[in-house]
Amino acid sequence: MLVSPSLLSADFSRLEDEIKQIDACGADWLHLDVIDGVFAPNITFGVPVVKSIRHLSDMVFDLHLMIIDPLKYIEAFAKAGADFITFHIESESDPAQTIEKIHACGCKAGVALKPGTPLEAVEPYIDMADMILIMTVEPGFSGQSFMADMMPKLKALSALCEGKDKYIQVDGGIGKDTIATVAQNGANVAVGGNAIFGAEDRAEAIACFHRY
Ligand code: DX5
Ligand code: ZN
Repeated sequence: MLVSPSLLSADFSRLEDEIKQIDACGADWLHLDVIDGVFAPNITFGVPVVKSIRHLSDMVFDLHLMIIDPLKYIEAFAKAGADFITFHIESESDPAQTIEKIHACGCKAGVALKPGTPLEAVEPYIDMADMILIMTVEPGFSGQSFMADMMPKLKALSALCEGKDKYIQVDGGIGKDTIATVAQNGANVAVGGNAIFGAEDRAEAIACFHRY
């Protein structure tokens, strides 16, 4: 299991320390939740923040765009230092065009599904994409409860991806009590917000994810 701690749960008054510490604790990727207040009910951060934290770490920058028109901003986020750019299938951008743009900008492309969206919505794009993200909470906030009823969708996605060398990411409410379930159902990248940044021992919290 690869671990992608979500910066949304960090202390924003001490971003440099938080990023360097999470890197030293063994995180593989850094999950960056960009929310525009339209696609989901929260406003987080955008291109200037991603750009200004890029030099702090060599971790893979794993951007999760919860914005209404991702295509418009791909180039700017790529230039700011994104490695993975994941956008939502429910956004207004054309999915195939958006994946092509992400690749043209030199990044890996992910497609995300909200809990209410059926797997069929992303099926036509699985071959083009590098990663599919199954949301296990409604997009917007960290600290929400894990939706176990997403597991059949995750399992069906894993079956579709068999032998295809895809990243299968889960995001929302993942922690020591839910990591085994997502691993059993085929996830190979787990995002962790509160379970990692809120842990007394962050290295141990990351190690717990890595055990699966
Ligand atoms: C929710 C974000 C998540 C969130 C995860 O919209 O996509 O990445 O920050 O936080 P936890 O792990 O606390 O649910
Ligand atoms: Zn996220």
